[in-house]
Parts: sequence; structure tokens; C-alpha cells
Amino acid sequence: MFASVAPRYDVLNRVLSLRQDVRWRRLLAAALRHAPAGEVLDLACGTGDVALAIGDRTVVGADFCLDMMALARPKAARLGRRLPLAGADALALPFRDGVFAAVTVAFGVRNFADLDAGLDEIRRVLAPSGVLAVLEFQRPTLPGMAAMMRVWNRLVIGPVGRLLSHDGGAYSYLPASVETFPDARELGARLSTRGLATVERRELSGGIAALTVARKVEAT
Ligand SMILES: C[S@@+](CC[C@H](N)C(=O)[O-])C[C@H]1O[C@@H](n2cnc3c(N)ncnc32)[C@H](O)[C@@H]1O
Repeated sequence: MFASVAPRYDVLNRVLSLRQDVRWRRLLAAALRHAPAGEVLDLACGTGDVALAIGDRTVVGADFCLDMMALARPKAARLGRRLPLAGADALALPFRDGVFAAVTVAFGVRNFADLDAGLDEIRRVLAPSGVLAVLEFQRPTLPGMAAMMRVWNRLVIGPVGRLLSHDGGAYSYLPASVETFPDARELGARLSTRGLATVERRELSGGIAALTVARKVEAT
């Protein structure tokens, strides 16, 4: 699915979110202030927009969709940035234990075939006190926003996504997967059961999206 939408992925993000996605990714990058010094893994990095929004640290991008990552390379080159990339499945990461000060995941965890297995892998590669920062869509929390999103999904995201991405399923999958995925509060609780304690939770744009930041805690 991601390979088929890759060529139009960035433009669809800008159009369908009315450019809110750029601001959301900046906030995700800023959440790294909670992390100790060291390297960052941007997991499910896609076309590299989060990795490239992180200005002041070495970032490694990883994703299992090589067609998405192929688009990150020329973007990094245009910005004169070095961006090491790894083809990798989040459920079985090819990195040693404890090597990253932080892991960022934007709009990725919702797609993991096994969320808990992905979270366990993230925790494994985090250094002691390392930080996970997750940006994800959720069912909107602001009254009235849920109804607006249903209209936006039906009249804009579905038709425009189908037209520009040439993948009928991908942009119906998006709202459907948001409906069934845990919201930020539930995600925070899930993270805490896996040794990741929430340090910041912030709802964005009326709760359409949320930023969850959690620190790795040692098992007692
Ligand atoms: C909606 S895109 C988000 C891309 C990017 N993080 C962004 O902010 O635009 C979701 C990405 O998650 C990746 N993905 C989903 N499941 C994955 C997994 N198990 N391992 C690695 N990447 C995964 C997909 O290939 C896709 O590139």
C-alpha cells in the first residue's frame, strides 16, 4: 500500500492536512528536548520528513517500504543533509540493544502488524532513559470535530486520495485504521505496561492528532 502511494505521499499530506502535518512534525522534533544526548532513530520514516525536521542530532531513518525511503534520499541531498537509511521491519529491528537516545515515529505505530511487538523492539533499542516520541492520528476529542472529520474524510480524504494516489484502498484505510487505534491516553497506558512512562501528551488541532512522549524506565 505505501509503495503505491509513495510518489504522491508528500503532496497528499500537505493537501489533506491543510499543511498542519508540517507543524505537527516540527512539534515531534521539538519533543526530543526530553531525550538524553545521542543518536535518533526515526522509525517508519517514510519519505524522511520527520528525520529532516530534526536539525541538531544525527538521525537514522528506517522503514520497510523501500519505495517510500527512496524519496528521502534526494530530499536530504537537496538540504545538504546526511541521512543514513535502513530497510527494516519495526517488529524485528536490525540494531543492537540500547543504541539510540530517542526513537521518533510519525503516523507509523498505527500500521504496525503487532503494536506490542513494535513497542518492545523500540524499548530494546533505546538507551537507558531514552525517549520515544510518537505522533499519531486519533479520534478527535474536541466536540464537533469528530463530525467535521467524518465529512472531511468522506468528501475530501477519500476522493482526493483516490484521485491523486491511484490507490483506492489506501485513503479509505486511513480513517478506518484511526477509528480502531488506541487514542493518546490509551496509547500512554499501553506504553507504560511496556516500560515506557509518559512524560508529555499533547493533543493537536482539536485532537485530530496527538503527540505522546515516553521515557524508558528500567524494570524493577
Ligand atoms: C503514513 S507513513 C508515515 C511516514 C513518515 N513517518 C511521515 O511522517 O510521513 C507510515 C510508514 O510506516 C511504515 N511502516 C509501517 N509498518 C512498518 C513496519 N512494521 N516496519 C517499518 N516500517 C513500517 C510504512 O512503510 C510507511 O512508510
